[in-house]
Amino acid sequence: MAAHAGELIRALSLTRRYGDRTVLDGLDLELAPGEFVALLGRSGSGKSTLLRALAGLDTDVEGEGEVQVPAEVSVVFQDARLLPWQRVLPNVVLGLAGADRRGRDSLAEVGLAGRERAWPSELSGGEQQRVALARSLVRRPRLLLADEPFGALDALTRLKMHTLLRRLYEQHRPAVLLVTHDVDEAIALAGRVLVLDHGRIAAERRPAAGADPARVRAELLAALGVTTDV
Ligand SMILES: Nc1ncnc2c1ncn2[C@@H]1O[C@H](COP(=O)(O)OP(=O)(O)OP(=O)(O)O)[C@@H](O)[C@H]1O
Ligand SMILES: [Mg+2]
Repeated sequence: MAAHAGELIRALSLTRRYGDRTVLDGLDLELAPGEFVALLGRSGSGKSTLLRALAGLDTDVEGEGEVQVPAEVSVVFQDARLLPWQRVLPNVVLGLAGADRRGRDSLAEVGLAGRERAWPSELSGGEQQRVALARSLVRRPRLLLADEPFGALDALTRLKMHTLLRRLYEQHRPAVLLVTHDVDEAIALAGRVLVLDHGRIAAERRPAAGADPARVRAELLAALGVTTDV
């Protein structure tokens, strides 16, 4: 069911099994409109499975009622997934008729004005990922699902992408669910950080709410099974 403007994004009692393995186990999740949420979890904990379910890419997920997400959903993956035989601008406006102008604007927003006619192979990894961001923005999503979008980038490019994503978020205000392995990335970007474990949301922190960042970091790492001295 498509959510209306201002409606919560909601999944109730989501369960996903692969054979006799239960990856999502009655998971509940809610995002307010325009909320930026980061999702942490160990490798194999089901983060991508959850994103696929929310994106409507997984038809075998079970839940109480339907997953309630807006019709305007964009997904960004770890790799940019650009079509190598299409230039940058057609990649951005793929499947959208008459959207070249908006596509150019989106490319300018991610700092790639003038590269419309480049081939994906002529771009760096960070530039390709910015094209992927432009491609999701041009669709004016109410929900942006991002699955480790900066995971393949070097540390410096990653920090620049943080600033860019945060700026784009401030301007467009979609709800964001950002999957990341990186606790610091989650704390830097999100208003609320969730930890997925054993098929459910096992911990939740709000880094901005006056809490000591070092403590929030330690608590999140503890929820991920990593102990630190703080
Ligand atoms: N198509 C599939 N068939 C069988 N098992 C699957 C399938 N897709 C995912 N799984 C299993 O579900 C579990 C969760 O996978 P998922 O990709 O959601 O993990 P993740 O949290 O995204 O991990 P990572 O951080 O490594 O990306 C894994 O154990 C994986 O092997
Ligand atoms: Mg994954």
